Amino acid sequence: MTNSTQSSASKRLVILVSGGGSNLQSFIDGCAKSEINATVSAVISNNPDAGGLERAAKAGIPNLAIDHRAFESRESFDLALSELIDSFNPDLVILAGFMRILTPGFVDHFLGRMMNIHPSLLPAYPGLHTHRRAIEAGDKKAGATVHFVTPELDGGPSILQAQVTIENSDDESSLASKVLAYEHKIYPEAVRWFCDNRLRMDNDGVKLDNKPVCESGIIYNSSEPTS
Ligand code: GAR
Repeated sequence: MTNSTQSSASKRLVILVSGGGSNLQSFIDGCAKSEINATVSAVISNNPDAGGLERAAKAGIPNLAIDHRAFESRESFDLALSELIDSFNPDLVILAGFMRILTPGFVDHFLGRMMNIHPSLLPAYPGLHTHRRAIEAGDKKAGATVHFVTPELDGGPSILQAQVTIENSDDESSLASKVLAYEHKIYPEAVRWFCDNRLRMDNDGVKLDNKPVCESGIIYNSSEPTS
């Protein structure tokens, strides 16, 4: 196989979800339209009732639930999960609303090939209730951040950030909807870069086209998204 053939080979994605899976849907659609040079090899959830599993089933994608409540420790769940993921031989693991704290062993195993999206302008507001916290703090801006996953919760190096203005009229729910619409733009974009071999994380941080990405990530710049 020549190098050029290797670099254009379609990537394999495994996507982890805990909930409704609207971000998952943006990957299913992006791959179906060949906007992302990849195949969704499997969707896995820790929640057997996750709507994301139904979305995967509808698209004919292998979908599996592995219920964390059946395991006696976080380590034993993460080990079983990593073995399940490995069985699909992914190039990239995508956390798309996967609401679990991950053990360092799990994260190390997928270091440099696992991404997350978090609904805040990291490093602000890691953890839960990000929109409520931003409104309560009187912030003027909110947003979402795509980042590589490292053992620190929501703390890995940023790739891409989208910012939205918090209006006086915004409440937690309206702000979440505004941010989510941008999540559906920036997450597929970052994954597209990875699948085109343009994006990587190494010891020096994140690089796009061999150029270092600044600490806050690239600021997404586009007109209002439509979805
Ligand atoms: C998204 O807003 C995502 O940013 C957030 O969960 C939601 C999942 O929505 N993730 C986190 O909070 C992770 N810390 P979805 O199931 O519709 O994609």
